[in-house]
Amino acid sequence: MDLNKTILIIGATGQLGQSIKAIQSGYKHYQLTYITRKDCDLASVDSINRFFTNRQFKVIINCAAYTAVDKAESEADLAGLINQQAVQRLAEIAKQQEAIFIHLSTDYVFNGESFEPYKEADLTNPQGVYGQTKLNGEQAVQEINPRGLIIRTSWVYSEYGHNFVKTMLKLGRERDELKVIFDQIGTPTYALDLAKAILTIVSHPSLEQQHSNFRLYHYSNEGVCSWYDFAKTIFELSGISCQLKPIETKDYPTAAKRPHYSLLNKAQIKQSFDLKIPYWKDSLQQCLNNLNN
Ligand SMILES: NC(=O)c1ccc[n+]([C@@H]2O[C@H](COP(=O)([O-])OP(=O)(O)OC[C@H]3O[C@@H](n4cnc5c(N)ncnc54)[C@H](OP(=O)(O)O)[C@@H]3O)[C@@H](O)[C@H]2O)c1
Repeated sequence: MDLNKTILIIGATGQLGQSIKAIQSGYKHYQLTYITRKDCDLASVDSINRFFTNRQFKVIINCAAYTAVDKAESEADLAGLINQQAVQRLAEIAKQQEAIFIHLSTDYVFNGESFEPYKEADLTNPQGVYGQTKLNGEQAVQEINPRGLIIRTSWVYSEYGHNFVKTMLKLGRERDELKVIFDQIGTPTYALDLAKAILTIVSHPSLEQQHSNFRLYHYSNEGVCSWYDFAKTIFELSGISCQLKPIETKDYPTAAKRPHYSLLNKAQIKQSFDLKIPYWKDSLQQCLNNLNN
């Protein structure tokens, strides 16, 4: 078996996992293995150890996470098992196997009080359990220091699973009026673009040449919007006539606090891996086209 091409994707049922699968035909030289919770339950170190017994990969991509941001406030232990303990174990295994470890994190590691796009080295200060457990996972990986990278991303949507775009399409078609927050700004990330970026990075010479140590990067689409702008654009591009009302965060209480400002500076990832990142509206159009076909 040619181990140069063996890539494990953990979290095959999630948005990013399914997006990688959707584009895999463009990367025929990779030997991709997808696993789900049934194959390997990240809440259990025993389950992780069992899965990796007698299995070896050249690249391990962890697309799985505890992502229920509000529920995490009352399920901190479970979120910690998946976002920290499991990530630590995966990083240890990657290091033992000399595999490249690619892990995903979030803009929620920041407090959202910045006025300029967050750089990788900026001070973290998560405002909720989800962000804290993701940060703990990042720190565990950095301590173990396998070869590879963490990519922090934001506002992920796709044709798959539950996300803002699909929720807006559903509600916009059902209702005459909808209230959406306008005082949180960030950049949406189309999971298909992120999937392409990851598979590009996997075969980029920089990964082998420059990165003997673990590195942190930021990735989202280009541009900026509020959730209100995002919803407005979804409706415009889909011909939905539902009236949108801008509201403030304080008028839409949630269990977990959200950052007001989520913009990520993507200069490092673009420069290191020669990535051209699409503008968020262009990617949204592509996702809507795919949803209609
Ligand atoms: N979604 C966003 O807006 C967003 C924003 C910033 C960063 N991120 C990060 O980006 C990455 C990908 O996010 P996503 O939106 O693709 O996530 P997602 O759609 O919520 O998928 C999460 C995946 O994790 C799996 N998972 C959860 N608990 C598990 C367990 N105990 N054992 C094994 N698998 C488990 C889920 O499996 P089941 O289907 O079985 O539940 C699912 O495949 C994550 O690291 C996330 O933290 C996401």
